[in-house]
Amino acid sequence: MSTEVSTDKYNAVRQDIIKAFPKEDYDDGSFAPVVLRLAWHASGTYDKNHKDGGSDGATMRFKAEAEDSANAGLEVARGVLEPIKAKHQWITYADLWTLAGCVAIEHMGGPHIPWAGGRRDKNNEMDCPPIGRLPDGALGKDHVIDVFITRMGFTVQETVALIGAHTVGRCHRDRSGFEGPWTETPTRFSNQFYKQLLTQTWTEKKWDGPRQFEDEDGDLMMLPTDMALLEEPFRPYVELYAKDKQKFFEDFAAAFLKLIELGVNRRARL
Ligand code: HEM
Repeated sequence: MSTEVSTDKYNAVRQDIIKAFPKEDYDDGSFAPVVLRLAWHASGTYDKNHKDGGSDGATMRFKAEAEDSANAGLEVARGVLEPIKAKHQWITYADLWTLAGCVAIEHMGGPHIPWAGGRRDKNNEMDCPPIGRLPDGALGKDHVIDVFITRMGFTVQETVALIGAHTVGRCHRDRSGFEGPWTETPTRFSNQFYKQLLTQTWTEKKWDGPRQFEDEDGDLMMLPTDMALLEEPFRPYVELYAKDKQKFFEDFAAAFLKLIELGVNRRARL
């Protein structure tokens, strides 16, 4: 297949992705948040030292990676995109999943991400990255630094910007063990996550579940890794993004593009 696929073809895929998002009886009425999470988890396995993992290859198609407990629930997102893959067979899963994440962000009112295609699908389960690379929400600041800065190669600022994606979506008890949304507008991409983080009084939820935090009403939640952003060296960027939505959008767009490009080698033979 030629790599010279016309922009029109991508536009047709974009339109079909947008059409697949609304679903009245699912969560908050949209698959967009879970599709965004798929793009992140497909990419967030990258290791800059081993130079493996990342979105190129779409290895989450294979059981080993699909069954990583961190990926619980992402079969929903892959399922939503499957008919689009069937209709536009020329696009690779690796391109479709990352493109769909970008379309989800924009569809929810977030910034445009200048996505580029050219990823290929790996066809061997042996190519799956090691299980356990994705972050564990129950841990703290050192873990966030290990995963985002040491392993993936992001800066402190990029790390804070990326985790701001928790402005959309929610946790599901039967997927991660955590429960609830981060904001009152879980299908609207904004800087609400940082505002909530700074202005609510967060206390540990008393329940028979993993350690998480809740606001005074018990409606909103934060993971321990989200709370870690209130500490140095992250906190100044939380304060910046809470005040300046435009700056958040610009930094998020750049960091998300970097995330979905990690390990993408358009010349390599797969
Ligand atoms: C320390 C880093 C992170 C941790 C520990 C973490 C953890 C989690 C957990 C536990 C959930 C709930 C899953 C469920 O129960 O369905 C979740 C959801 C989500 N995460 Fe993260 N995450 C991190 C970073 C990110 C990043 C960088 C992005 C995107 C750029 C992202 C996007 C999302 C989205 C959109 C959802 C909502 C999914 C839905 O509504 O189904 N997360 N995350």
